[in-house]
Parts: sequence; structure tokens; C-alpha cells
Amino acid sequence: MPHHVQREIRYNFEFERRIRACFIGAGGHAYRNVYPALRYAPVELLGICDLDLGRASQFARLFGAERAYCDHREMLAREKPELVFLVTAYHPDGRVQATELALEALAAGAHVWMEKPTAASLAEIEQLQAASAAVGKMVMTGLKKTFFPTIEKLKDLIDAPGFGRLTSINLRYPQSLPPPEERGDLVRMQSFLDHIYHPGAILNFLGGPIERASYEWEAATGATVTNLRFRSGAIGTLHLAAGQSGGSPFERVEIIGEGANAIVENGTRLTVYRKAGLPSYGRAASFIQPDEDAALSYEPEHSLGQLYNNNLFYLGYVPEILHLTDAILGEGAISKGTLSIAHEIMKLFEFYRRSDAGVTTNL
Ligand SMILES: NC(=O)c1ccc[n+]([C@@H]2O[C@H](COP(=O)([O-])OP(=O)(O)OC[C@H]3O[C@@H](n4cnc5c(N)ncnc54)[C@H](O)[C@@H]3O)[C@@H](O)[C@H]2O)c1
Repeated sequence: MPHHVQREIRYNFEFERRIRACFIGAGGHAYRNVYPALRYAPVELLGICDLDLGRASQFARLFGAERAYCDHREMLAREKPELVFLVTAYHPDGRVQATELALEALAAGAHVWMEKPTAASLAEIEQLQAASAAVGKMVMTGLKKTFFPTIEKLKDLIDAPGFGRLTSINLRYPQSLPPPEERGDLVRMQSFLDHIYHPGAILNFLGGPIERASYEWEAATGATVTNLRFRSGAIGTLHLAAGQSGGSPFERVEIIGEGANAIVENGTRLTVYRKAGLPSYGRAASFIQPDEDAALSYEPEHSLGQLYNNNLFYLGYVPEILHLTDAILGEGAISKGTLSIAHEIMKLFEFYRRSDAGVTTNL
């Protein structure tokens, strides 16, 4: 089954069966990107809960939920949802609020869809894994980057015969790593934890589990360059390019196979360099390759009011919800955003927290 499939989207009210759901968190990201995505998902919003009841009520009116709450326990007990969305933030000590809320939602018998980060430690992910297995309910973390159509297409290229195996990968993403003496402090590490899930998700999706890594750290910006070796034998670099301009596109991903490579720039521009020979060295008068070997280039058109040129789709926000609702309705399993993938990303976080620069560490 290819990862990138052209599916027809249904609107919320067109589904015959809608999953009875509650939502905890009426904050900024949820407002911009998660509640609006529910317009395209088989979800019936029973309740919205926020510590600020006024905001929960406003969100309930805007996004069509039946009731508003400021106590999630009361909401779970009254509404008995099949699915709970969690888009919350951090405790004052830097722990992730959604980790405990996910345990409570599982205990109430619901599946969980949660924003990243799933947790702030490996031990907490393991606790979630045990709780999820005990009640037979799924916990999915919204790893949106693994749902970008461009990144899904990279994965399909890796799986396609013409590309060869993934042999190396490089990924650039702006993020600063605090100085070594601050890395034990979860509050100082909050931004790093918040963001490592993004490049971590892409690396895991395309390259699989990481076997070992070593990094160099730059003190003025906190930038790092990390050498990676995946268990598959592929190698890679993760360049966390703190110090880049706020006006610059964030990210760039390049995969290299066996005689072919592909690049995603800025999340939406994909160039595939298919297997092709080098034109005759010192003799070829033109760089134009035969059509069957020519590079392929994709980028969305921005004229029509389509779904695909809306960030709810090209940034994966709708697809990452449909991944879980498809699994619930089809009584199947999820393959993206699983707790075992969150566990792999958490190993990368712990590696940056605990390993010294310049030392190769087995993950
Ligand atoms: N994937 C992405 O593109 C993306 C982008 C931005 C943020 N995020 C993630 O989304 C999450 C939210 O970020 P934000 O910037 O919107 O935060 P925020 O602080 O604006 O919103 C969090 C909300 O959760 C509420 N809340 C916390 N604990 C609660 C509880 N026990 N019961 C009810 N309500 C509770 C708070 O009152 C607040 O309104 C974070 O996990 C962040 O990492 C993801």
C-alpha cells in the first residue's frame, strides 16, 4: 500500500457514522489547526474542555460542540466519549500536560489523539504503552510531517524499485539546543522537546530506527549537526540550523538512493532526480536528459480554492486525524504516530539531553 494516496475527502456532515468525541484544550494551535480540521473528519464533538470555561464555551459555539467544561474528569464521566483529542501544553516544571490526560482518557475507555510531544521521558511513554495495551485503546500522536504529501511521496520513492534502497538522508530544521549545563532542566529543554518531534518523525518515517549518533554543538546559536546511522545501514545528518533567518523557509529534506535522489524544500516543493547517467563527460553539449530519465518536479498550484493548497492538508492536519478515525471505524490499527514511534523519537531527545558533543552513542 503506497503511503501517498489520492483520496477523496468527505465533509464532516456527510459521514453516516461519526465518532463520539471530546476535546481537551482550547488554545492557539487547536484553534488554528485542529478544530478546523474536524470539518473533514467523521467526528461528532460532544464536549470541549479548557481550564478557562469562557474560552471552552466560545470554542464550543464556533466549532459546533454540544457542551463546554472546565473539568475534564466531569466531561469524560458525563460524555463517555469513544475518542478524546488532547491539545494542551506544559506543566510549570516542563512535563507534558497531555501525558497524564491521555492516561485518564484511556482509563475512561477512550482512544486518544494527542499533539506532540507525547511525553517528556521514555519512562512516561512506556507507561502509556502499558495503559493502552491494558484497555485495548489506541494512542496516536499527531506527527503531522509524516502526513505531508511530499514526505509520503519520499517514502514511496524509497519503497519503489527505481530508486534503490535509502542509502543516506539529510535534514535541516531550525532548532537551538541549550548549553550542556541546562539540559537536565526540562523547562530549559521545553522548546527542544516541542520541536524534536518534527525532524525526529521524518527521520523515523523515512529511515526507520536510529542505531547510533554523534553531534557537534555551536555555542553562539545552539545549532547542532548530528551524524546518524540507522539500523537499516543507511546513514544521515540532522542539521538543527539555529541561527537561520526568521524569513527563511524552515526545512529541507534530501534522500539519496542508489543512483537517484529527491529533495523536499519548504515542505511543499518536491524534486525527484530519477536514475540517470551523467551526460558524456567533457563531450556532451546539452544538460537535457532523455524524457524517461528527466527530473520530476511537484509544487501545488495556488489559484483554486482547493483542499490540497490549504495548510490543513499539505501540512498533514486533516490526514493525521483521518489516520486514527479510519482505524477506529475500520477496527484496524494505526501505523503512524504510534507510541513505539514516539518511543524512538524520545530516545533521540534523551540522546541530546545526556550525551556529550563529539561522542558516538548507541541509541
Ligand atoms: N503540530 C503542530 O504544528 C503544532 C503547532 C503548535 C503547537 N503544537 C502543540 O500543540 C499543543 C498546544 O500548543 P498551544 O500553543 O496551542 O498551547 P496553548 O497554551 O495555547 O493551549 C493549551 C490549552 O490547554 C489548556 N489546558 C491545559 N491543561 C488542561 C486541562 N487539564 N484541562 C483543560 N484544559 C487544559 C490550557 O488552558 C490552554 O488553553 C502543544 O503540545 C504544542 O506542542 C503543535
